[in-house]
Amino acid sequence: MNSIELQNVSKYFKVNGRRLKVVDGVSFRLEQGRSLALIGPSGCGKSTILSMTAGFFPPDEGRISVSGSLGLCLQDDKLLPWRTVLKNACLPGEIKGAEALAEAKEKASAYLPLFGLDGFEDSYPAQLSGGMRQRAALLRTLIAGGDFMLLDEPFARLDALTKEDLHRLLLRVMERFSPGMLLITHDIEEALEIADEICLLSPRPARVVERLTTPKGEGMPFDPLKHAALKQHMRDVLLAHKTPV
Ligand SMILES: Nc1ncnc2c1ncn2[C@@H]1O[C@H](COP(=O)(O)OP(=O)(O)OP(=O)(O)O)[C@@H](O)[C@H]1O
Ligand SMILES: [Mg+2]
Repeated sequence: MNSIELQNVSKYFKVNGRRLKVVDGVSFRLEQGRSLALIGPSGCGKSTILSMTAGFFPPDEGRISVSGSLGLCLQDDKLLPWRTVLKNACLPGEIKGAEALAEAKEKASAYLPLFGLDGFEDSYPAQLSGGMRQRAALLRTLIAGGDFMLLDEPFARLDALTKEDLHRLLLRVMERFSPGMLLITHDIEEALEIADEICLLSPRPARVVERLTTPKGEGMPFDPLKHAALKQHMRDVLLAHKTPV
């Protein structure tokens, strides 16, 4: 079984000549087929955790072990400006070869309407809105596949209805292809809807202050009372650790 495991991971950055601790002893394990959401306040170190998991730079302390391939959707959409929506979406397939490219194109034409990008496949990123660019980047990640999807706030700039559509789409992708998913979000409701497990993080330096399994992760049917109580609980935990503004 493929998995991602962080053991006691810490990271420091040099800011103005000072060593700033950004991640503080974070541990979690995610198996393929399961989804884990990281929720924490802005600037706490979430993207840093994801970047280290993706192997962009190593942790200063602790260990990260990854078995399986990764697909990424970063906070900054990173679409190539000189390629159209379709060509951006199919790029990972194109790199793998002709067969993968044909498969990517087939998937892209099936997904484009679901992503509200139908008719924009030949547009360049500069001709799209911020939300459309975000959807195109997510489309590329889903098409590329991989054993795990690492998603950094992929729905942050979307309107509520598009967000709901994409949540459903992501759940269908999870069901059909069973990748593992590491999702960074600020949105408690979103985490409860999509994730099997949630890690609540402290303000910088990010520490896991609570880890919980959602009703979805336990295979329980939706219960509005339990849902509301869990939401309140998570809000209380995050507020208890919040630094006053
Ligand atoms: N390459 C870097 N060099 C120096 N400091 C950095 C670097 N990357 C991030 N930081 C600092 O690390 C801290 C955490 O940043 P990070 O991007 O991980 O936060 P985040 O939790 O993803 O925030 P947001 O929710 O706003 O995206 C911030 O204080 C940021 O200034
Ligand atoms: Mg971030």
